Amino acid sequence: MQLTLKIWRQKGPRDAGGFVTYSARDIDEHMSFLEMLDVVNESLTARGEDPIAFDSDCREGICGTCGFVINGVAHGPQRATTVCQLHMRFFKDGDTLVLEPWRARAFPILKDLCVDRGALDGIIQAGGYISTSAGSAPDANSLPVPKEHADRAMDAAACIGCGACVAACPNASAMLFMSAKVAHLGLLPQGQAERWRRVRSMVVQHEDEGFGHCTNHGECEAVCPKEITLDFISLLNRDLLLATFHD
Ligand code: SF4
Ligand code: FES
Repeated sequence: MQLTLKIWRQKGPRDAGGFVTYSARDIDEHMSFLEMLDVVNESLTARGEDPIAFDSDCREGICGTCGFVINGVAHGPQRATTVCQLHMRFFKDGDTLVLEPWRARAFPILKDLCVDRGALDGIIQAGGYISTSAGSAPDANSLPVPKEHADRAMDAAACIGCGACVAACPNASAMLFMSAKVAHLGLLPQGQAERWRRVRSMVVQHEDEGFGHCTNHGECEAVCPKEITLDFISLLNRDLLLATFHD
């Protein structure tokens, strides 16, 4: 395959940045998207040019490290797929692909396609944990959990913190991410002790980190590689309301 790539290049946070056009030649359709970029970077390095910076770690769709926008869609055109799990066979020979970093006030661009997603860590630090002793695995297994709650908590826990939901949202809101964290802890018995404090402090932190408000566009759900659904945002809003009745 031959491709034309228009890639956002930005030397650092203070650089204005801009698109640079590259041609990717002899790309195997079975390569992953990131392997294709590796090939482009090898040729840039061989020419003495700065390789394109992008984040990745597991390349198995489980760590949440990768992510950028391809032709206007966070993580690219294949639904429920991280960019590291996207393969070149999804594209056609001769395609032109435009690659940009996540764009959100809370995610400053570090270099090229890399952004600082520390603002998501700030939300986790505000309440995305339990500080009660849950005991060992047998203790946890001896605590009955309604099947429906266990399933919903597991669905929410699938969030890998990639930030695509923020990048896709016209308000750059992290509500989908935050709702997944609130739900996966708040639906389980071990998460009850801090349930109301958690939701209050995470929502305050979300505001402080510079994320926007949710106005129900649903773009977050459409791009989420782990299919976190909008109804978790309803759960978050309900818990925030109920928190006003609890100390
Ligand atoms: S909710 Fe989905 S898109 Fe948002 S951070 Fe979690 S996995 Fe990524
Ligand atoms: S590199 Fe880990 S999810 Fe993509």
